[in-house]
Amino acid sequence: MRDLLVLKDLTKKFGGVTAAKDVNLNLQGGMRLGIIGPNGAGKTTLFNMITGEIKPTSGTIEFEGEPIHGLKPHQISKKGIGRTFQIVRVFDEISVYDNVLIGAVARKLHFRPTQEQHHHVDEIIELTGLGEYRNVMAENLTVSAKKRVGLATALATKPRLLLLDELMAGLTFVEIDEMLELLRKINGEMGITLVVVEHVMKAVMELCENIVVISSGQKIAEGSPGEITNNKKVVDIYLGEGSK
Ligand SMILES: Nc1ncnc2c1ncn2[C@@H]1O[C@H](COP(=O)(O)OP(=O)(O)OP(=O)(O)O)[C@@H](O)[C@H]1O
Ligand SMILES: [Mg+2]
Repeated sequence: MRDLLVLKDLTKKFGGVTAAKDVNLNLQGGMRLGIIGPNGAGKTTLFNMITGEIKPTSGTIEFEGEPIHGLKPHQISKKGIGRTFQIVRVFDEISVYDNVLIGAVARKLHFRPTQEQHHHVDEIIELTGLGEYRNVMAENLTVSAKKRVGLATALATKPRLLLLDELMAGLTFVEIDEMLELLRKINGEMGITLVVVEHVMKAVMELCENIVVISSGQKIAEGSPGEITNNKKVVDIYLGEGSK
C-alpha cells in the first residue's frame, strides 16, 4: 500500500542553524506516530514544513503520493492535513462554537456556513467534550479546554492526517488520560492518522505504535516504544536513566 506521508531528505536551515537535516520518514495511513527529542531538536520545524508554514531548504514531502512542498498552508489544509500548535492558537474573543466553525469553513468567514457544516461542528464539539462550553468565549477557558478547542478546530477541517504539537503539555494526569482516550477514538473510529510531538513520555509511549527520535535536526532512532526505551543512544541523549 502507498504511504500516506513520505519525507525525503528534508532539510531546513535558519541562517547558521540546521533545524532539520536529511530527515526521511515513511508513514502508513491509520498509524499513531510519536516524535520525541530534546528542546530545539527540530520537531516543530518538521511540522511547520509539512503544513507549509515554512519552506524546506531542500528535500521533498509527499502526501497521498503527491508532492506538497511549496504549497501554501491553506492548500495543504485542503488536501487533508490538520494541525494543532505548541502555543495554543484560538480566537479569544469569540465562542468555542465559532472557533470550531472557522475550522469547518476553512477559515473563510465570509462564506455562509452550510447546514452540513453546522452539523459537523456540533458533532465535533460533542466528541471533544466541549458541549458545556460551546457558547463560552474562548478567553475564559482553562488551558486544557483551550487545547481541546485547538484540536476541535483542526478536526473540523476534516483531516486525514493530524499533527499534534505538545497537546499534553500543561495538562494534569487526569486530563492527559482523557486526551489519550479521545485521540484513540479519533484514530480508531474516525480513521485519522496521528503524528504527535510530545515531551510527556507516558502519553507518547501509551498512545503510539511507532516512535521517531530527533536530535539536533536529525533522526537518530525509530522503533516501537519498547525499542526506543531500550535504545542506549536515545537514553543518553534524551530519556536519561530516570525514565527506565
Ligand atoms: N523561525 C525560525 N527562525 C530561526 N530559527 C528557528 C526558527 N524556528 C526554529 N528555529 C530554530 O530551529 C531549531 C529547532 O527548533 P524547533 O522549534 O523546531 O525545536 P523543537 O524540537 O520543536 O523544540 P521544543 O521541544 O522546545 O518545542 C532551534 O534551534 C530553533 O531556535
Ligand atoms: Mg516545538
